[in-house]
Amino acid sequence: MKGFILASFLVVAVSASSLFQQDGAKFQAFKLQHGKTYKNQAEEASRFAIFRDNLRSIESHNARFEQGLETYTQGINQFADMTDAEFKAMLALQYANKPNFNDNSKFQLPEGASAPDSIDWREKNVVGPIKNQASCGSCWAFALVGSTESALALKTGNVTSLSEQQLIDCTTDINFGCSGGMLEPTFPYIQQNGLESEADYPYQGEDGNCTYDSSKVVTKITSYVYFNGSEEVLKEAVGTAGPVVVGIDADYMKYYSNGIFTESGCPQDSASLDHAVLVIGYGSEDGSDYWIIKNSWGTAWGESGFIRFARGVNQCGIITENTYPII
Ligand SMILES: *[C@@H]1O[C@H](CO)[C@@H](O)[C@H](O)[C@H]1NC(C)=O
Ligand SMILES: *[C@@H]1O[C@H](CO)[C@@H](O)[C@H](O)[C@H]1NC(C)=O
Ligand SMILES: *[C@@H]1O[C@H](CO)[C@@H](O)[C@H](O)[C@H]1NC(C)=O
Repeated sequence: MKGFILASFLVVAVSASSLFQQDGAKFQAFKLQHGKTYKNQAEEASRFAIFRDNLRSIESHNARFEQGLETYTQGINQFADMTDAEFKAMLALQYANKPNFNDNSKFQLPEGASAPDSIDWREKNVVGPIKNQASCGSCWAFALVGSTESALALKTGNVTSLSEQQLIDCTTDINFGCSGGMLEPTFPYIQQNGLESEADYPYQGEDGNCTYDSSKVVTKITSYVYFNGSEEVLKEAVGTAGPVVVGIDADYMKYYSNGIFTESGCPQDSASLDHAVLVIGYGSEDGSDYWIIKNSWGTAWGESGFIRFARGVNQCGIITENTYPII
């Protein structure tokens, strides 16, 4: 009996240590892929502990996916060594204190037009490149610039990458740079000043001084549209006008990898909106309707930088704040 207890204890000890080794190998691969370096051994050890917790959580989500209990898979990405609190600190859309804007137009479906059953604006070459905001809370700038890139491509037939850093540096009268910003209240700045190219005013991922040069402006916007409260109107806008910026709650998206994102617990109230993204299409797969969303967390995240959201259920508050520019 004693011998048996000893033997089974050894089995547990061995498998725990081999799990530790497997996790260690995954951590090394993760560090290499995402260029992670840590200050010292202590930080390395604490990041490894966080990574292991996150890995267990991802594995149990994917086990539920295998059982048909989840609609999407999760994977290790650049956030795998961050706590949920650290991740949330990067989400910085400002909604609560935004001014009430009256000088914008509501969306109206053009006479005789109707939204198609599905659309993917990537196929029409009007979606700019996937970018990476890194640890700066600049989602608002990426969503606004992405929408302006699309409006310009709809007009010219060519995609030109435009500058997020300009918005971060030059709209500090209403926004907070890497600490967050607003959506439609920022469009009047682009209307008046225009945007430089990404090449002329490149992304730094931190707050900087405004070096705006009006001679380098690629485009201004003519006007912008703001609406909220209807998934049907959002579909009509995306289907007939082009990509639309939306505010969402992104707390649950940290490890999204593949599939149609559905989280019934994701908040839908305006107070929970903490991230801005660009809806660039919609469709259906095996009877499940989805939105196609362009994110700003690089191409290693999600479906090559995109996420598909369940459509028709106000997933994570997607109909709360909707806006797009016109050129
Ligand atoms: C698009 O860009 C290409 C390459 O710069 C250029 O040759 C072409 O004329 C542009 N097309 C339009 C419609 O501006
Ligand atoms: C911005 O300008 C101030 C004052 O000229 C200077 O002290 C600061 O270093 C500048 N910041 C950056 C990021 O260049
Ligand atoms: C739409 O926005 C208005 C203010 O702009 C707000 O009063 C209303 O509650 C919003 N509706 C929804 C469904 O978010």
